[in-house]
Amino acid sequence: MKFFVDTADVAEIRELNDLGLVDGVTTNPSLIAKSGRDIMEVTKEICGIVEGPVSAEVTATDFDGMMKEAAILAAIADNICIKLPLTLPGLKACKALTSAGHQTNVTLCFSSAQALLAAKAGATYISPFIGRLDDIGMDGMDLIREIRAIYDNYGFETQILAASIRSINHVQQAAIIGADVATIPPATMKGLVKHPLTDKGLDAFLADWAKTGQKIVK
Ligand code: G3P
Repeated sequence: MKFFVDTADVAEIRELNDLGLVDGVTTNPSLIAKSGRDIMEVTKEICGIVEGPVSAEVTATDFDGMMKEAAILAAIADNICIKLPLTLPGLKACKALTSAGHQTNVTLCFSSAQALLAAKAGATYISPFIGRLDDIGMDGMDLIREIRAIYDNYGFETQILAASIRSINHVQQAAIIGADVATIPPATMKGLVKHPLTDKGLDAFLADWAKTGQKIVK
C-alpha cells in the first residue's frame, strides 16, 4: 500500500517525508485554503519535497476551464497529478489528460458506479471518500470493497486511493481490502505507530536493561 499525505502543510510533509513514509501528497481547494498560501507557490514547494505524485485540484467546473487550469498546474513540476471532480466534464478532462500522458486523480467519489466511470475514463487514481460516507451513516469501507471487486473483475489499472480517512482503522481496513493507496492526514499517519503495549514493553525492556549496568559500546 502506498501512503500519500493528505495536507498542504509543508512542515508536516517534510517531517513525514524525512521518516521515509511518504509516497506522494494529495491536496484539494480546502487544504490549500487551510494552508493560507498561494496554490502555485505551495504546490511547487511540495513537489520539491516529495518525489512521488502530488495531486493538485482544478477549480473550474467546465471542460475548457479544467483543461486550461490543468495545463497551468502540470507545468509546476513533473510529479504533478491533476485532480478532477467526478462530474461529466471532469471525466472528459480525465480522458483527455490521461491520453496526453498526465497522471490524473478523480476525486469526490461516493459510489462504485462513479468509480466504474473513472476507470473507463482512464483515471490513474480514483479517490473514494470513506469518512464522508460514514458521516451520513453509511459504511465507507463498503465502497472500497465494491470498487476493488469491480476493478479486479475487469482488470482496470486505475488505482484505488482511499481518501477522507479519519482513523487508524480506516487505513487498516482499506489495506485488508486491497486499496492501492491511502491518503492520510498527518496526525493519523503519525498515530499508526502508536500502541500502548509497545510503549509498555519498551519501558519494561529498558528498566530491566538498566538493572544490568551494561552499555552497548565497542
Ligand atoms: O483527500 C480528501 C480529503 O482531504 C477529504 O477529507 O475529512 O474532509 O472528508 P475530509
